[in-house]
Amino acid sequence: MLLKNFIVFEGIDGAGTSTQIKKLCARNSKLLIPTAEPTDRATGRFLRQLLAGDFKLDERTTSYLFAADRCEHIYGEGGVEELLKAGRIVVSDRYFFSSLAYQSATCGKGIPRHVNAPFPLPEVLFYFEINPEVSLKRVESRDGKREIYEKIDYQKKTAALYDEVINEYENNPDGMKVIRVDATKSIDEIADFIYNTLINLNIIR
Ligand code: TYD
Repeated sequence: MLLKNFIVFEGIDGAGTSTQIKKLCARNSKLLIPTAEPTDRATGRFLRQLLAGDFKLDERTTSYLFAADRCEHIYGEGGVEELLKAGRIVVSDRYFFSSLAYQSATCGKGIPRHVNAPFPLPEVLFYFEINPEVSLKRVESRDGKREIYEKIDYQKKTAALYDEVINEYENNPDGMKVIRVDATKSIDEIADFIYNTLINLNIIR
């Protein structure tokens, strides 16, 4: 199944997805609604504590928790499904492709695949491509505490799994469009590329 007018940005940490979602949605704030995973709901707040290293859980448990938060994100009150029904275009910073990359890097592919199989595909997936050494430098130059996944070996493993997942979904039978973004380009170049792509796809008119 595919959710029309649902757009997802994916990439390793520091690839620039959050910056681009802000820029895109600022172009028409009534129509384009930004959203993100982990969410700011109770399920997502729990994940933020985990990512901050406040406590440890088995990596398999983590896979289930990201999927539970995703369920809230899509089907919960005021969530993606509701926004789409109200005629909005919803743009999410991460979706289940993150779990297929990040969680597969720690607990293997089985559980992440299994728990994410029921979720609908977005209409468009933008994949931000960048070398993990470069993106981690960007993350390290930010203020604030590091999250548990922001380490080079883990980011490299995640990047390789992301590439695999994106290649696999490129020719999906549901018709989700997979668009690769050169995340090393300037912020404005990337913003124009994304906006023009959505116009060409007739999603933004
Ligand atoms: P991120 O979008 O990087 O948030 P922020 O920039 O605010 O820290 O997401 C936080 C982390 O969560 C990131 O390292 C990726 C990780 N993550 C997973 O491991 N699995 C998932 O399914 C999702 C959605 C995120």
